[in-house]
Amino acid sequence: MSLSAGDLDLPDAPLLADLEAIAVDVARSAGRLVVDERPDAVEVASTKSTTTDVVTVMDQRSQDHLLARLREARPDDAVLGEESGGASGTSGITWVIDPIDGTVNYLYGIRQYAVSIAVVEGDPDPHTWRALAGVVVNPASGEVFAASAGGVATLDGATIAVAPPVELSQALVGTGFGYRAEIRVEQAKALAGLIGRVRDIRRQGSAALDLCAVACGRLNAYFERGLNPWDHAAGSLIAAEAGARVTLSPGDGRARALILAAEPEVAAMLEGLLLELGA
Ligand code: IPD
Ligand code: CA
Repeated sequence: MSLSAGDLDLPDAPLLADLEAIAVDVARSAGRLVVDERPDAVEVASTKSTTTDVVTVMDQRSQDHLLARLREARPDDAVLGEESGGASGTSGITWVIDPIDGTVNYLYGIRQYAVSIAVVEGDPDPHTWRALAGVVVNPASGEVFAASAGGVATLDGATIAVAPPVELSQALVGTGFGYRAEIRVEQAKALAGLIGRVRDIRRQGSAALDLCAVACGRLNAYFERGLNPWDHAAGSLIAAEAGARVTLSPGDGRARALILAAEPEVAAMLEGLLLELGA
């Protein structure tokens, strides 16, 4: 399925602009928190799916901050977040938040991490929801990527667009790996088949920023299997509004969904190859 906003009826432009503005404001303030209060030695507070899938105290503090700010601005909306908490709502609108995307980079002091916020309508399932607005902030660099449905994608307020089409052999392709060792091994096997067919591969460590990199032409394509909804909710809309074709394969317990975002001609060439390689 394609994740672009399509031709469906959208809420009024002023409401979309308002939602985008709230998302920018709230994401920037959580970003300031995670940068200003980052301890010199970031400690792991707990782990999730594996011992390397970590939560730092700042992930939880950032999520608590986002929940409080969103409750204040939009009390009737639900919140779906990566860390514990979340909130139910009555409006049919859900804020999908990743309080720190790229937590391992944050832990190691690598300045490639993000606060990601999307606002979606409908069931909070990425296969069926309609994304209304999305913001990805890299608080270490200060960059703010944003978009609302049917509008333009921006970086620090200036319109951005995907890179022009290229042959696959010239494409710089981003990807990421899951936390489970056996899954990473399978992902690496598919990558071994791809790396000789493209310009090169990047694994930068934040899915949200990878999608924004496609949106502004820093990558020709990005794909990853097994992301959670909060990893890609905002970045997918930003990439789509910047002209990318963004697709999410059907996913169930056994076959985790594959996301692919790329300039449409590049996407068409990669789709078949990724299938062939079992990516
Ligand atoms: C992770 C990052 C990473 C991707 C992983 C995600 P987290 O999110 O987006 O780039 O490869 O699949 O889980 O754990 O840093 O929030
Ligand atoms: Ca994440």
